[in-house]
Amino acid sequence: MTNKLKYFVGNWKMFGDFGSLKIVQKLNKFTKQSKLSYKKKRIILCVPNTLISFFNEKLKFKSISLGVQNCHHHQGYGPFTGSVSASMLKKAGAEYIILGHSENRSEGESNELIKKKIASALNEKLKIIFCIGETYYEKKRNKTFSVLNKQIKKSLKKNFDMDKIIIAYEPVWSIGSNKIPKKHELRKIIKFIKNDFKKVISTKKAPKVLYGGSVNSKNISLFSTIPEIDGFLIGGASQSSKKFIDIVKNYYK
Ligand code: PGA
Repeated sequence: MTNKLKYFVGNWKMFGDFGSLKIVQKLNKFTKQSKLSYKKKRIILCVPNTLISFFNEKLKFKSISLGVQNCHHHQGYGPFTGSVSASMLKKAGAEYIILGHSENRSEGESNELIKKKIASALNEKLKIIFCIGETYYEKKRNKTFSVLNKQIKKSLKKNFDMDKIIIAYEPVWSIGSNKIPKKHELRKIIKFIKNDFKKVISTKKAPKVLYGGSVNSKNISLFSTIPEIDGFLIGGASQSSKKFIDIVKNYYK
């Protein structure tokens, strides 16, 4: 079993209501009873904005962390109908925030916009899960490395607090598709991201890099054989406490 800290981050996407508290409570209980300390295993659930403060109030002794999935780039309050800023989310109890998810990129979010969002979330001392990844079209044209490099270069600034940024590598073609990268390819890509980040940011410290895309309780055992992966961003499977818990359990089997 690995001795390094691993992250298991649930991305609920557009899912959940007050009744979903049951899922959160089960996950919290599992984490509390788990033998692995907070230093070794971190469970984070990124939920819709409508639920963050409710879950925060209901979970008296929190063993898991809660986060959200996007924010407006503007700091504080402003004339942006329907939007929510990082400071509002922080006040509602978010500790983490997913930014740059491909489902938002596909709605028009650019690397430059994501950079502004990261800056405003960092200002609020939120921890960022910054998503990058290539589309199937880009993969087929051997553009994976150049796409990842561009996403890192254009969305991160050297003066950002990098200790608060976790990268999530999510190949777009693998999200919700039941398709996952080949082990040797994934390993190469994770190593590339760590090295490229060090070059772009001019730092000696490699970032934490998670893998996301169709992670489930079966394929997790394959991912657990790749030591370079620091954890997982789990979409569909995180909407069920059993599936999420089985992923964590099977990782350490
Ligand atoms: P998936 O989603 O696990 O359902 O493929 C991952 C994600 O979008 O973060």
